[in-house]
Order: sequence, then C-alpha cells, then structure tokens
Amino acid sequence: MPTYLLKFTFLLILFHKCLCYETKVFGPGLQPVNIVMPARYFFVNFTEIDENSYSPDLAKNFAVEITGKSFKKDACRLWSNTLNRKDGTFIVRYKLYETCSELSINIYYKNKHIENSPFKFKGLIQPDQCDCPQDLQSWLKQYQCPLSYTQIVNDLKPFQHVDMKDQVAKIIDKYHNPQSTSFCHYVIKDNQIYRDCYGKHIGFNMFADNVLLSLTRKVVMPDMELVINLGDWPLLSKGTEPLPIFSWCGSTETIDIVMPTYDITESTLENMGRVTLDTLSVQGNIDRKWETKEPRAFWRGRDSRAERLKLIDIARAHPELINASLTNFFFFREKEAQYGPKLPHVSFFKFFDYKYQINIDGTVAAYRLPYLLAGGGLVLKQESPYYEHFYGQLKPYVHYVPVKRDLSDLVDQLNWVIKYDEKAHDIAKNARIFANENLLPQHIICYHAVLFNEWSKRISGEITVKEGMTHVPQTKFACHCANKENTSHEEL
Ligand SMILES: *[C@@H]1O[C@H](CO)[C@@H](O)[C@H](O)[C@H]1NC(C)=O
Ligand SMILES: *[C@@H]1O[C@H](CO)[C@@H](O)[C@H](O)[C@H]1NC(C)=O
Ligand SMILES: *[C@@H]1O[C@H](CO)[C@@H](O)[C@H](O)[C@H]1NC(C)=O
Repeated sequence: MPTYLLKFTFLLILFHKCLCYETKVFGPGLQPVNIVMPARYFFVNFTEIDENSYSPDLAKNFAVEITGKSFKKDACRLWSNTLNRKDGTFIVRYKLYETCSELSINIYYKNKHIENSPFKFKGLIQPDQCDCPQDLQSWLKQYQCPLSYTQIVNDLKPFQHVDMKDQVAKIIDKYHNPQSTSFCHYVIKDNQIYRDCYGKHIGFNMFADNVLLSLTRKVVMPDMELVINLGDWPLLSKGTEPLPIFSWCGSTETIDIVMPTYDITESTLENMGRVTLDTLSVQGNIDRKWETKEPRAFWRGRDSRAERLKLIDIARAHPELINASLTNFFFFREKEAQYGPKLPHVSFFKFFDYKYQINIDGTVAAYRLPYLLAGGGLVLKQESPYYEHFYGQLKPYVHYVPVKRDLSDLVDQLNWVIKYDEKAHDIAKNARIFANENLLPQHIICYHAVLFNEWSKRISGEITVKEGMTHVPQTKFACHCANKENTSHEEL
C-alpha cells in the first residue's frame, strides 16, 4: 500500500476513535414485539463517562430517532423523549398510538449511528391499548418476569384450595363497614372482568380496574376471584383468620396480601401520559450532581402523622441540617399556628437539589419511596411497621440509612452521612440501581401478573360471575393483533 494511503487509513482510524464512545444499549424497549407497555424504554450508557466527566456536549451531540409504518403504510404515530441523567446515561422512552411495523430505532452521536444502531424490528409492534391477549406462560417468559417473589410466596402461604364463595361471604361479613372500609370483589372469567364493590369510597376501583384491564389485554389470565382493598390501611390483623384480601400497603401487624401501590401502578400505566412523576422521569429531571447538591436534608409533605410535626421541630433546631416544611394541614389543623405556615408545593424533582431525602410514613407507608430511591439522593428512612411490595428486598446501609421511628437519631444519622460522604454517595447509587432493577414499569407489570397467576392456582372450585356484577369492559381501540386473523373491535 502506498504510504499516503496508509497514512490516510491511520488518520481515518484516529478520526473514528475520537468520534465514538463505547456504548451499552439495553432495556425492554429494545424488545418491542414481546414487551408491550404504555411507554417503552431503554438505556443508552456511554460507559467511559460518569458523573464527574459528563459535559453538556454529550447531550448536544446525542440524538434518537424512532420511526415505523402504520397499517396504511404512513408514518407510524408515536412519541419519543430522552431523559438525560447527566452521568453518561440516557433513558429513551417512546409511546405508540397505533399498531406499527418496520420499527427502527436510530441512535446517533455526532450524526453517526452509535454501535449496533439502527435497531430494526420485524413484526407488529402494539400500543398498550391493544386487546391482543397471549398465552400466559409464554408471555411471562417473553416479558422476562421472575418465576417468583419471596413476598408473594410468604403472602400466599396461608392459602391452599381456597373456596372463594365461602371466603368472600366471610370478608363481607367481617370487613364490610361502609364508614371505614371500601373493597371490591373481582371475578376474572374468560379474560373478562366483573366486580361488585362495597363501601363509600369505591372511586378508587379505577386503579384496580386499570391494572386488571392492562393485564387482560396482554395475556389470557386464568379465571379467578379476588378481593381488592381500596383503602390504604391493611385490614386483617395478625391472629385473625386469614382471609384473602389484596392491599396496597402491608404491615408487620397484618396479613393482607400486598400488591404494588396504586401510586406506582398508575405511574406505570400512565407513563408519558397523565402522570409525570415516575421512576424513570425522576432520573432525568435532576439538575445537580452529587458534589453540587446542598449537603442538607429536604422534606415536604402533609401533616398525616405526628412524626412529621416532630420533623419540623428538629428542622427548626437544626436548619443547617434540614429544610422541612408542611404543605397542608388536615390531621392536626389545631396545630397549624405552631407548625405552619404551610408552604406551597415544591416540584418533586427539586427535592434532589439536596443530597439527603427523608422518608417518613404518612397514614401508612409513604408511597414516594420508589421515586426517592430512583432520584439519586440518599434516603433516610424512618423505621416502620408498614411496607410496600418491595421493601423486603431493601437493605439498611446498602440502599438507605435507617432512622428510628421516633426520629430520635435523625440528627446523628445526618451527621454520619455528612461525615462519610463517599459511603453516602455509594448508598445513593445503590438505591438507584435497585430502583432500575425492581421498580421500573416492566417490574410493576410483572409483579401483578405473577401475583395474580400464583393466586389463581390457590382457588378451588368453579369461578362464576354472580348475578348483577358489573362488567368492566376494555376501552374500544382499533388494533391489528398479530395472533388473530381479523382485526379486533373495529375495522380501520
Ligand atoms: C454504565 O457503564 C458503566 C461502565 O461499564 C457502569 O459502571 C455503569 O454502572 C453503567 N450504568 C448503567 C446505568 O448501567
Ligand atoms: C428551603 O427550601 C425552600 C424551597 O426550595 C427555599 O425556598 C428556602 O430558601 C429553603 N430554606 C432554607 C433556610 O434554606
Ligand atoms: C374472522 O372473520 C370471519 C368472517 O367474519 C369469521 O368467519 C372467522 O371466524 C374470524 N376468525 C377469527 C380468528 O376471529
């Protein structure tokens, strides 16, 4: 080879090198045929870049383009957005508004495709609204759901060969109190949903409906009956006869079967929709990296527990450690003069201008914990008898720093995290990794699917729809299901 050509080739290699970073691209949004969700997502990780070496140039030169064809071969209607974590990792989300084919995900750095881009997909890519249920066993595999969860195994232990006719009658007899409880008896039969609700505050059945409708669009659920508690408080005290009631919050004093809270479930089902705070968005809307965050704790919330008032006292005594205020008085109205004034709401994303986040129970567990873990701050968690479906996997001093229930060691714990900043930063990073492995939309959908499937195996006897039950229909949506010859619902 002539020398000038050699030189040219060498230059090209050099040129190529300085244009490109090593990248890792991963996440369920890269399996769009098999993993249907309201907003699909994947991560793009520039592996050589971290919080310290990140510069805004990376984001300026990063671009994603997602295209596809509609059934009529027009451009597929979809929306994508990119969340910048400012640590070398981007989260890309996209939402389909119709059945698409020939989907192509193009990821660019400086107008060049990064490694492996473009990602091209054969087959039909369905929006979450499509009613195209598949066989449950193969779906669980394709969706990459775990076979089991320790929490589910424990919660379902008391139940074998359950006769739901008998159990539902007992639940209504013992726990139907229109003044204080609200719950719904659901029947899933031939993948259709029916319910009877009891109590005053049954508007919350919308949350239970939504997740059951979402599941039955994706999979053919086994026939089953279940009772879902629409209140925050778990209902069955330890020591009483175990009856199968599904609740959003568990406690060490109760034996309800726990499912993901309506809050994180809605943020999953309304991702890139009605709900703006979720375990993904909270990673991409943080302004400050660890070193530039205020080395103080931040807290806002309403007055739903005495310790929240106590926190205000501690914060007043230690303004150099804690910025805390109540945003609403309801439970302790008579104490507003003492603990007010109430301050306006602060965007959750702004909480993370501060290094430390305090998680104190409200009426039950504070349903904000998933977002605090994902947000990149260090969580100081009040010890509590209440728990959500994932608390059993959290480890103190690994994912959070514990604080005594009466907050008596809060100041000591804050001084500890300030003194051991590197350790605190590691715990904050672990918390985010935990959230990314357990609390993203895919995980929330899986937990429901595995829980209800395992539950259905415990029921004996025939499942029947009772006279007078309300049918909960799917919303009509025009779709082309891959596994059906005909279009469902409507002709396009
Ligand atoms: C990105 O890659 C780096 C280097 O391999 C790794 O340390 C980091 O944990 C990765 N981040 C994510 C979100 O996977
Ligand atoms: C506490 O936080 C609020 C909201 O971010 C801020 O306006 C206020 O100045 C802070 N107070 C102190 C004493 O830092
Ligand atoms: C499709 O539609 C035709 C005619 O309307 C009907 O006979 C056939 O059973 C349908 N097939 C399926 C799989 O629904």
